[in-house]
Amino acid sequence: MRRYLTTSSSLVDRKTHPKIDYSLLGSPRRPLEDWKSVHSISVTKPQNPDWQWGEGSTNHDQGSENHVEINPFEEGRPMVHNYSLMISGIAPRPIGLTSTISADGKANLAPFSYFQIVDHDPPVFMLAFSGRNGAPKDTLLNLRETGEAVLNTVPEDMIEAVNAISVEAPHDLSEWALSGLTKAPSTTIKPAHVKKAVFSIETKLLKIIEYDTSKPGGRPHECLAPLEATRFWVREDAIDEQRKHIELKKLRPVGQLGGIAYARITDTFDLPRTNWARATKETPELIELGNEMTEVPSRLPPKEGPQAAARS
Ligand SMILES: Cc1cc2nc3c(=O)[nH]c(=O)nc-3n(C[C@H](O)[C@H](O)[C@H](O)COP(=O)(O)O)c2cc1C
Repeated sequence: MRRYLTTSSSLVDRKTHPKIDYSLLGSPRRPLEDWKSVHSISVTKPQNPDWQWGEGSTNHDQGSENHVEINPFEEGRPMVHNYSLMISGIAPRPIGLTSTISADGKANLAPFSYFQIVDHDPPVFMLAFSGRNGAPKDTLLNLRETGEAVLNTVPEDMIEAVNAISVEAPHDLSEWALSGLTKAPSTTIKPAHVKKAVFSIETKLLKIIEYDTSKPGGRPHECLAPLEATRFWVREDAIDEQRKHIELKKLRPVGQLGGIAYARITDTFDLPRTNWARATKETPELIELGNEMTEVPSRLPPKEGPQAAARS
């Protein structure tokens, strides 16, 4: 066993495990800087604190006015182009590091960024599984077998381990061991949570929703899984006294972007919301403004059938 000095100057034991080859990171044309430690997260005013009703976007981005139309089902368009387009366009996505267990007791751990809150009362989350040929993902298999999962948020200092275990390891191998993450016991379900996670949620599966899409034949195993929370676990230094707010500075969430990119939060701004009664009391003209109907030019081909015939 070797001992290494970490950046925080504490000595940790590290077994001589093989390294992942990160030598391909960056390129001569796009060199990457080293990681920068950020100890505080800045909070500013919004870009346009003088925004007025009806003003639209602040228009500081002088991008093109025109858009490119893309048919996801266009002949010859590879499916992976839609994947790439969608994950780069819907970003950042939170990551749910999902711990499940099979009926015969094998523990599994895998990251999912098709993951979200669905409702807070009762607290419901969802995971989505992309369709694929061959066997379903172990997480889905386990959910079908035992109906339990822990959803762990992913802080910055866990992302290398989380990214690594997205590898398609054989069903009987343990991603827990491969990641080096430590298990902490759950109280309402069998799967463990990740000790290092700042926020973990014990959940029970509500149902598996399989859906038909317009793609002929679809692909096997694509489904949505809503999960109801049975317990929250928050690191004690990250929660306020009333146990109702998690400090962002402690959560340090990582979001997934397009390609191999991830994001961290170093910069935020505050923007209060108003309500209709207060807004219309201050600005009665709002009702008039909201009544203005603008015709949106349609690009749809003219409808065929009796109505169209009557028009012509
Ligand atoms: C950050 C991250 C997010 C991911 N999100 C998803 C996802 O939302 N849906 C999915 O099907 N696979 C996703 N993957 C890939 C799975 O983690 C991968 O297929 C994994 O091997 C599944 O593990 P399992 O078979 O143990 O369930 C993601 C991978 C990473 C690194």
